[in-house]
Amino acid sequence: MLTFEENELLTRTGPGTPMGKLMRRYWIPALFSEQLPQPDCPPLRVRLLGEDLVAFRDTNGQPGMLGQHCPHRGASLFFGRNEECGLRCVYHGWKFDVTGQCVDMPNEPPESNFKTKIRTTAYPCVERGGVIWTYMGPPELQPGPPEYEFAMVPESHRFGTRHTQDCNWLQSVEGGLDTAHVPFLHIGDRAYDRGKEIDVKRDMKTIAFHYEAVDTDFGLMIGQRRHLDNERAQWSTTPYLLPWYKIIIPLTRDGLTGYHAWVPIDDEHCMTWSWEYHPQRPLIEGDLEFSNSFRHIHLENIPGTDRPVWNAGNDYGLDRELQRSGKHFTGIKGVGLQDTAMQESQGPIYDRRFERLGTSDVPLIAMRRCLLDALKHMERGEAPRGLDPASHHARPGNVILPIGAPFAEGLARLSGSAADWAPVGIG
Ligand code: FES
Ligand SMILES: [Fe+2]
Repeated sequence: MLTFEENELLTRTGPGTPMGKLMRRYWIPALFSEQLPQPDCPPLRVRLLGEDLVAFRDTNGQPGMLGQHCPHRGASLFFGRNEECGLRCVYHGWKFDVTGQCVDMPNEPPESNFKTKIRTTAYPCVERGGVIWTYMGPPELQPGPPEYEFAMVPESHRFGTRHTQDCNWLQSVEGGLDTAHVPFLHIGDRAYDRGKEIDVKRDMKTIAFHYEAVDTDFGLMIGQRRHLDNERAQWSTTPYLLPWYKIIIPLTRDGLTGYHAWVPIDDEHCMTWSWEYHPQRPLIEGDLEFSNSFRHIHLENIPGTDRPVWNAGNDYGLDRELQRSGKHFTGIKGVGLQDTAMQESQGPIYDRRFERLGTSDVPLIAMRRCLLDALKHMERGEAPRGLDPASHHARPGNVILPIGAPFAEGLARLSGSAADWAPVGIG
């Protein structure tokens, strides 16, 4: 449970809010690089943390992110002409480069030199891992470019999609870390259910896992314990990287890994980014067989948009026959869509005064504390965790410990190699 004030603190991300200030300290995934496919291609509208922006790629191939409204009289630069290293407003012809500097002002006398005094909002961009990232924080505090593993592997090792969710970002991050839902919500679509006859009653006869969380330099490592026998327990680990990343433990020993980011568009909508990648090898036929049928973490979007085909407007394609069939828990097809349906069904901004948390909610409680700690660090003028790119190299894994040994002990033993991975489920 959170107080009203704590809930507001964690969910509000617009300019000037504490959480908005925190998020603006990190590089933000804004677009796939391929959305701006070549120099001088059409600009795109972008909305991040409640700010309306326009993204473009200039004649040199450099991506730029400008405030959407022209500083002259507020027309949208989305309609602008992208030409000769700048975006020209079509209302009166003012033109801006990727730094936000006005470089041409044809409706003013040249001798006034007015253009040199005009600058519009502009956020720096970097490209890495097929993503255009932008930094919306104080220039003097800009960290080095992100080094999350999915972004560091060659393009051939990676597959990514994104879709919008009509809910606050925190619901989505909580949904990602709440692995206690996996043995329920996802029955019928889990990796180890694929193609198998399943039995809902039998498969649901689980599973009160035990959870612990340990602070790390990137955020948290969350451990989920199950007993293997009378002496040994297996801990599966899920990294949470501030402020919005979760790494999914690989589905197979081979190490195909999932990665999510949940980025606020505004306080009632977020962008869910989903990647699958292999740290050591290119993806091969079969790796994405399930993903490409939109039954894994990816969703099918309405062509040309980030909006899912199946959404609240059509009850996510809920099939009551399938729900009754005994082979599927929800009747909603696909892991990602099941997550989206539950997270959106909590409402645009869930009021956590009314929740009743149990022991399986330890990961969420730890994540909220981690965010509140990060806010306190920032207020004291200290750098929040997870800013240093060297901290981004987190990996999930499994470790076996004697029953009774604390999770923190196991973390030191995790090598992050494929040998630590075993198929345990998906979130
Ligand atoms: S509003 Fe853009 S140039 Fe006038
Ligand atoms: Fe899930």
